[in-house]
Amino acid sequence: MELYGLEKNRLPTHVAIIMDGNGRWARLRGKSRIEGHREGTASVRTTVELSRNLGIRYLSLYAFSSENWNRPHDEVEGLMGLLENYLEVEQERMMREGVRLVAIGDRKRLPASVRRVLDRNISLTRNNTALTVILALSYSGRGDIVKTVRDIARKVKAGQCELADIDESMIAANTETGPIPDPDLLIRTSGEMRISNFFLWQIPYTELYITPTLWPDFSEQQYIKALLEFQRRKRRFGKTDEQLLQG
Ligand code: IPE
Ligand code: IPE
Ligand code: MG
Repeated sequence: MELYGLEKNRLPTHVAIIMDGNGRWARLRGKSRIEGHREGTASVRTTVELSRNLGIRYLSLYAFSSENWNRPHDEVEGLMGLLENYLEVEQERMMREGVRLVAIGDRKRLPASVRRVLDRNISLTRNNTALTVILALSYSGRGDIVKTVRDIARKVKAGQCELADIDESMIAANTETGPIPDPDLLIRTSGEMRISNFFLWQIPYTELYITPTLWPDFSEQQYIKALLEFQRRKRRFGKTDEQLLQG
């Protein structure tokens, strides 16, 4: 397996990506925004493929935020169409390559046709073990936390747990990402220095990597560059350098 200069045993377990910049990519070329989104799906394919081939276990893709519903109707419709088509086309490849699909976010808001193919892919791929792709659709980090608080409050009310049982691990387990470990690396394309309501609970010690590259231009080389940079980072988790040296 080609490793592109990466250290095999220091790869991130979980990579999360805020796939941003499709609109600007299109505008720079005098194309419609939706053409930018279409081009962006090619980068999704590339990223999934390389993650799988490198042996990364989890890849979270922020594809549509709760706030993105406020975009012009035509753009939302176009995005939903592209999503449906992507899921349709990729099904076979996911099975062939052992990719498991899961979705997070408020699925109820998605058009029925998207929900159908999404549910089918999730159910078809549920026993695949090579790579788990977590697709964030109509997702918001705060929405995730609100839902988690409600779920836990319900359990307390029903007498299924005590107030004193609530700790970080219980909260983590009740978020939409449940048993999936926190991202080690969060990549954002298009240069914006913000989280835009993506993972909030899940990223306390995640390494952030922001590149000016627009999402449709995010190639295999760009992804490798991000991973190489991740491997140069020193993750201290609050400790001192000396403590880290002592192991
Ligand atoms: C990211 O690209 C895709 C979604 C948010 C759905 P944008 O559409 O946000 O592209 P810019 O930020 O306008 O360039
Ligand atoms: C974040 O991008 C959402 C996704 C990539 C799905 P946006 O383009 O919506 O973010 P803002 O509005 O610039 O913060
Ligand atoms: Mg954007």
